[in-house]
Amino acid sequence: LLMALTIKPMHPLFVAEVTDLDLREPLSPEIQVQIQDLIDQHGILIFRDQNISDEQQVAFSQYFGEIEMANNKHNITKQENRRLSNMFADISNLNKNNEFHAKESRQRIFNLGNRIWHSDSAFRPNPARYSLLSAREIPSKGGDTQYADMHTPYEQLSPKMKELIADLRCEHSLMYSRTRLGMDQFTDQEKEDFKPVIQPLVRTHPATKRKSLFLASHAGRIVDWPITEAKLLLEELTEIATQREYVYTHQWKRYDLVMWDNRRTMHRATRFEDTKETRDMRRTTLAGDPA
Ligand code: OGA
Ligand code: MN
Repeated sequence: LLMALTIKPMHPLFVAEVTDLDLREPLSPEIQVQIQDLIDQHGILIFRDQNISDEQQVAFSQYFGEIEMANNKHNITKQENRRLSNMFADISNLNKNNEFHAKESRQRIFNLGNRIWHSDSAFRPNPARYSLLSAREIPSKGGDTQYADMHTPYEQLSPKMKELIADLRCEHSLMYSRTRLGMDQFTDQEKEDFKPVIQPLVRTHPATKRKSLFLASHAGRIVDWPITEAKLLLEELTEIATQREYVYTHQWKRYDLVMWDNRRTMHRATRFEDTKETRDMRRTTLAGDPA
């Protein structure tokens, strides 16, 4: 008999909670297919009460693709300063000694870039497919994560706007997202490593064939457009796409694991007392294909 996973829809447009699954256990091929279908359909899956190790998180992630490795080219953290293995993006407020990042530390300020709407690794030639974020320790208040659906706002654009943006290509770079927040000092090496990559503004989901807006804080230019007009259009589309009806706010409980499809959603972190309370979140990321 085939076990069917049960789900609880969390938002009218996307997001489902998957109940009764222990991510520490190996997954049968049938369950793998069901999860794949669910993420294609809902874009975001929530798994509660998953007290998993790093190894178990990696093993679960690898059922759905190839891990995108952290490296110096895509972060300001030097290898010797990493707290976690290169299979993880460290989304915590901790340094390698498990102490809070100092208020003025460059790493902390760089990490604050997660608080503006983005899609993970849009600044890499192959932007991320899925991200899996595991809450190992959470603060007593704040630190929610907000998600925005990128299919419905695209579908609701006027025909004229759809025509205007159909073939536009954007430049994405970590420097664009950080410059927005006033971080503008980059070493020559960083300038080299963070060179912009080109991504389409409209993309089609390979499984559902639905189109979406591929926006992110990292998008700073539109190819062949004057900079001011480009920034205005990107601001306008981001404002449209992140209206309340398209947004789901996740209030974390310890040991939640949230898996999202970066090809059809954006997300952002929110405020908490990050120099006083621990928020230890660990992300595995699955590499995508060129958009
Ligand atoms: C991420 C991210 C937001 C948060 O894990 O990619 O942006 O709330 N996280 O920590
Ligand atoms: Mn992110």
